Amino acid sequence: MLLHDRIPNHVGIIMDGNGRWAEMRGLPRIEGHRRGTERLREIIEAAMEIGVKTLTLYAFSLENWQRPQNEVRTLMRLLEAYLRKEFSEFMEKGIVFRTIGETWRLPENIQSLIRETEEKTSGNNGMTLVAALSYGGRNEIIRAVKKAILSGIKPDDITEDSFNSLLDTSGLPSLDLIIRTSGERRISNFLLWQGAYSEFYFTDTLWPDFTKEEFLIALRDYQMRERRFGALPAGSRT
Ligand code: IPE
Ligand code: IPE
Ligand code: MG
Repeated sequence: MLLHDRIPNHVGIIMDGNGRWAEMRGLPRIEGHRRGTERLREIIEAAMEIGVKTLTLYAFSLENWQRPQNEVRTLMRLLEAYLRKEFSEFMEKGIVFRTIGETWRLPENIQSLIRETEEKTSGNNGMTLVAALSYGGRNEIIRAVKKAILSGIKPDDITEDSFNSLLDTSGLPSLDLIIRTSGERRISNFLLWQGAYSEFYFTDTLWPDFTKEEFLIALRDYQMRERRFGALPAGSRT
């Protein structure tokens, strides 16, 4: 059972392990990506049911552009098919769709599909679903610094709040929990600034095998943590 007063506002998921899932079965890596995409609906629905306000999914990193052209092309095709297929679900469920990252690097047709989905879902009032696409945490910070310089802001006016508003994640709640599948225990350039005080949950499960049950286990694990943010726990002796 989940504690209703400790539901994370914002969960990020590093959806990793598609390639290995396929390789283990003697299938092309691309098949793993296809199966991975099929996991999305269940996890998104679970997050909504639980009351997570923002779910950020790391779908394609800036570094992933280095993968073979064939794999990148397939990932783009899957993304396009996913957005086309899920649009009516987003509207039905009241999902607000947003992206973070250098989406201008994506193929033109996907960029316009993203813009359309963002615009049409912007008036919804359910969960915010953020897709990190062509995203890199360092790159996001550098772009924010460039925006700050171009705006002519005075150094004294650069605060954590004002800097937050220059990031792609501007306006989103602070990141409570990062889940990474596939056994890798690293951040791989995901939400570096936002993750300063996030809790981490790592699982060996590969993304195409990640179920609602395991998502709930991750959330229960999160609820057991004591988040201190550098201070002493409430009620501790001084
Ligand atoms: C995650 O799965 C999906 C993307 C990075 C696009 P991988 O493709 O990284 O799968 P592994 O890590 O090789 O198993
Ligand atoms: C991180 O996974 C990116 C996504 C899940 C989209 P990678 O598989 O690209 O990261 P590394 O190479 O293991 O660090
Ligand atoms: Mg990987």
